[in-house]
Amino acid sequence: MIIASNFKTNHTRTSTNEYIEFVEEFIKKENISSDVYVFPPSTALMNSRSVFVGAQNAYPVQSGSFTGEIALEQLQEFGIKSILIGHSERRHVLKESQEFINSKFEFFKNSEFMITYCIGEPLEIRQKGLKEVLEYISLQLESIDMSYENLIVAYEPVWAIGTGVSATMEDIKSTHSALKNIYGFKNLLYGGSVNLDNVASIVDIEGVDGVLIGTASWKKEHFCEILKKTNKLGGR
Ligand code: PGA
Repeated sequence: MIIASNFKTNHTRTSTNEYIEFVEEFIKKENISSDVYVFPPSTALMNSRSVFVGAQNAYPVQSGSFTGEIALEQLQEFGIKSILIGHSERRHVLKESQEFINSKFEFFKNSEFMITYCIGEPLEIRQKGLKEVLEYISLQLESIDMSYENLIVAYEPVWAIGTGVSATMEDIKSTHSALKNIYGFKNLLYGGSVNLDNVASIVDIEGVDGVLIGTASWKKEHFCEILKKTNKLGGR
């Protein structure tokens, strides 16, 4: 099981430090066997013994002139080896093109990062049906090396992110099963309004290898409760 928290633009360096120490203790005390990922803001990147701390974003160069960005050199300083690519907020709010996302994937693959690659459709596509959803997602995967061994894929329907309305269990099941059949993903997470109440049922769905959580993971106590509820559930 993979349980990941995306802080987005929340938490400071101090509160991230407290959060990660708290989670590390909890993992030890409760014998949590899941792989735990935390993606804090870039000002709060740090190393951890039992949590994989990853970057929410970085520019695909070693270093250079890209005002306001951080790149590989700044990640290496903190021993960061994991990154989120293609998150819906970067695609839709920050207007990242698929071409740019592809170049990030290539760069961080060549840098041997653990990549959590996000895919997912907007509401108007979901309303048309599963066939259209799969067609839409196929374009997000077209230039992605799906045989990359350090790849985690997160299926996150855009309309379910931060809205409090997660996809239905049936939609998650049919979409995950289709994606696994077509692409053979080993690690396929679901994301989009996962919370304390629905997380156990979601990770129990066949084809779900874990979850990527925003809002419901920002309080360390809640995240730990999620870790406890999902410990040793699911197939992995
Ligand atoms: P949410 O965010 O849990 O707040 O819906 C999920 C995500 O953006 O990864």
